Amino acid sequence: MEQVTRRRVICGNWKMYKTIDQALHFIDELSPIVANANCNVYLAVPFTAIKLMADKAKELHISIGAQNMNDATEGAFTGEVAALMVKDAGASFVLLGHSERRRVFKEDNAFINRKVKRALQSDLEPILCIGETFEEREEGRTQEVLKEQLTACLNGVDRELAKKLIVAYEPVWAIGSGKAATSEIAEEIQSFCRETLASLFDAEVADRTPLLYGGSVTSENSKDFLNQPNIDGLLIGSASLHPESFAKIIQLCQNSASSNDSLAKGE
Ligand code: 13P
Repeated sequence: MEQVTRRRVICGNWKMYKTIDQALHFIDELSPIVANANCNVYLAVPFTAIKLMADKAKELHISIGAQNMNDATEGAFTGEVAALMVKDAGASFVLLGHSERRRVFKEDNAFINRKVKRALQSDLEPILCIGETFEEREEGRTQEVLKEQLTACLNGVDRELAKKLIVAYEPVWAIGSGKAATSEIAEEIQSFCRETLASLFDAEVADRTPLLYGGSVTSENSKDFLNQPNIDGLLIGSASLHPESFAKIIQLCQNSASSNDSLAKGE
């Protein structure tokens, strides 16, 4: 089979942090470092900062995205934001199914599935987040849970559109805990996810889908993850809030000697 190009993606998730001023200041500090980045730099920012950040990030080749969206095109849904609206503001991608959305806002796989399809139809790249809880891992159910999340969240997704998908494995127990998964665990899981994607779609879709790891990623541990063959990038929470640590991870991504470096930076 023809070798498939797989992008490397370093994505920050700012969660509910940063005013517009703080966001613009961040990007001013980051810009000299990312000017020559040979990996894809993504930032999922608060809705309020998307427009100005996207305008500013364009020349820096940083992609700005949303952290959520509703599945409906429009309607009487007070407080919600539609795919078209985040796209209109300049977002090129959207995080979907983050464990904080699942746990705090009770989002289930069926709802996330509708959002994934809406995002793809709206020309937004979905970063689908999946991950098991500590209890599920202790019970030996990790693969079962992840397969269920992938299968349900991607149900009915068109194969051609699926080529725009990114999948992030974020074990719930590793998020914000300071206890990252080992790179071996993350690699084993991402290899399993790639197999699952192949069974849901086909080998080509599975081979080209960037698979990210997230959960207590730091500038110290990021290299271990990036050196794994099935880990194509990182989804970073707190370490993405500071330009120095985020920049360091981007630089490590550029320099990492992963076996998939030959696949770096495809379109
Ligand atoms: P931390 O990097 O702060 O653990 O957060 C991970 C995360 O939730 C990214 O989406």
